[in-house]
Amino acid sequence: MRTPILAGNWKMYKTILETKDFLRQFHKNTIPDNREVVICAPFPSLPWLTEACEGTSIQIGAQNVHWELEGAYTGEVSVAMLKSLNVTHVILGHSERRAYFAETDEMIGRKLRTSLTAGLTPILCVGETLEEKELGKTNEVVKRQIRTALEDVSPVEVGKIIIAYEPVWAIGSGLAATDEDAERVISYIRSLLPERYQDKVRLLYGGSVKPENIGTYMKQPNIDGALVGGASLDPMQFHQMLGEV
Ligand code: PGA
Repeated sequence: MRTPILAGNWKMYKTILETKDFLRQFHKNTIPDNREVVICAPFPSLPWLTEACEGTSIQIGAQNVHWELEGAYTGEVSVAMLKSLNVTHVILGHSERRAYFAETDEMIGRKLRTSLTAGLTPILCVGETLEEKELGKTNEVVKRQIRTALEDVSPVEVGKIIIAYEPVWAIGSGLAATDEDAERVISYIRSLLPERYQDKVRLLYGGSVKPENIGTYMKQPNIDGALVGGASLDPMQFHQMLGEV
């Protein structure tokens, strides 16, 4: 039995005041049992959020981390810095990091290994662009992204990762993948994982998920939750989606 997850990716939204406002409106004490809720917030809000959510079932994630433990890397953040704040999750390989910050599969793999060693749970994002989809390359692309990122990761460690299938063309576009298409790619992703852990790893769909469509994804046998951008910024919508996972 895989525990369903609702993960919010706030991207570069919400100041600390807006973060406090969100949590005031989000009824954090009414989270249904057997659900995991993760809010991946910008770095400046993490210290406050982790403290404010202590003792609740909300877990806090970052949206990026460096692969080195420390060093002269201006503007970067280390796994130890996140761990010291009680951050539990980290999004890795989001398509915006790949597209705007030139993150490669190799860099994402290094970040993944450093995160796992530190005891952070990576939410590894994979997904094809529209052009790749139209060329029929979806499986090939996600296979490359997953194989490279998971190279040198032991099967036991793979069992601790969360993977989000986020087609690039569906992110922030309002053009969500159909539930059948998402299920097809996600079951393919499951087949790429080490056999002993195939049933354990949680696989999420992401890309224009909203309260109106999240339920259809959750009905699919291989989809264990959602990674939500835009709709996670609104406390009411986020809470509504929680009722559907
Ligand atoms: P969206 O973003 O829900 O706004 O499409 C998803 C994501 O980028 O994780």
